[in-house]
Amino acid sequence: MPQRILVTAATGTVGREVVAQLREAGAEVRALTRGPAAFPPGVDTAHGDLSVPDSLSGALQDVSTVFLVWPFASIDGLAAVLTLIAENAGRVVYLSSAAVRDHERQAEQLIEESGLEWTVLRPHAFAANALRWSEQIRGNGVVREAYGQASMSLVHERDIAAVAVHALTREGHAGARYELTGPRSLSQAEQVRILGEKAEHPVHWEEASPQEARLQMLARGWPPEVADEVLHAQAAMTARPGPITKTVEQVTGAPARTFESWAAEHTKAFRATG
Ligand SMILES: NC(=O)c1ccc[n+]([C@@H]2O[C@H](COP(=O)([O-])OP(=O)(O)OC[C@H]3O[C@@H](n4cnc5c(N)ncnc54)[C@H](OP(=O)(O)O)[C@@H]3O)[C@@H](O)[C@H]2O)c1
Repeated sequence: MPQRILVTAATGTVGREVVAQLREAGAEVRALTRGPAAFPPGVDTAHGDLSVPDSLSGALQDVSTVFLVWPFASIDGLAAVLTLIAENAGRVVYLSSAAVRDHERQAEQLIEESGLEWTVLRPHAFAANALRWSEQIRGNGVVREAYGQASMSLVHERDIAAVAVHALTREGHAGARYELTGPRSLSQAEQVRILGEKAEHPVHWEEASPQEARLQMLARGWPPEVADEVLHAQAAMTARPGPITKTVEQVTGAPARTFESWAAEHTKAFRATG
């Protein structure tokens, strides 16, 4: 069987890191995207839309393994996509989430029943979520949101990708569900302080009411149920910090990257422009 790996959502936060790390590991990679996109040298590009199973036939040719992101809030269409994958490949690594929302639980179940060898990744909040504050930080250096004391252990997207690459290219990960976090919990106010420190730009947290934060989220185009879910999770993490797992280190052999390292790599996004 050819050892070519298809990466879906290859332009996404985790997908592009999976592509890069697979290339560094010398794997044959095919990147799935709907539009034009640039990938590292040696990466084969395929066009296809996960909501249109027929559009994936070419992308799946001569593929042994698939990194699957399902970028929809329902599993409609997933069974057909999994059937196509199983006709071509033998293994799937699925990017789920630690929240295991209804559609993610249903997706995990379909994957388990697909006949494919599977590994499920359940990351907690991505460090990259901090990019949502970039405009406020670059502007007046004040982040005004709710639940500044909500504490969570953000996971670096390169660590999620590193775990994915192990599961995609090595044996011993079949049937595993990996819950992924960073190495320590930080409150949202501490995260903002660290972003300012690394960008050499004083930044502080200003506490807003949950009602005000909800209105801001809706104004940014978030669906009401997502805004409510996020605020509910933040309220819970104010009372009790999110968990910390050792899974990144157990799978990859390297300690999980810190939020400080993520912030140091992304100073450009947070530096004042004026
Ligand atoms: N953010 C978090 O804290 C967090 C935590 C846990 C789990 N997750 C999960 O991680 C996954 C990735 O989330 P993200 O926010 O980081 O998004 P993302 O992967 O950065 O961006 C979405 C990706 O999906 C692709 N895509 C969108 N619609 C598509 C379609 N119809 N057909 C094929 N590809 C399509 C886009 O590719 P093109 O536009 O190039 O086609 C893009 O690469 C989601 O499933 C999310 O639930 C996120």
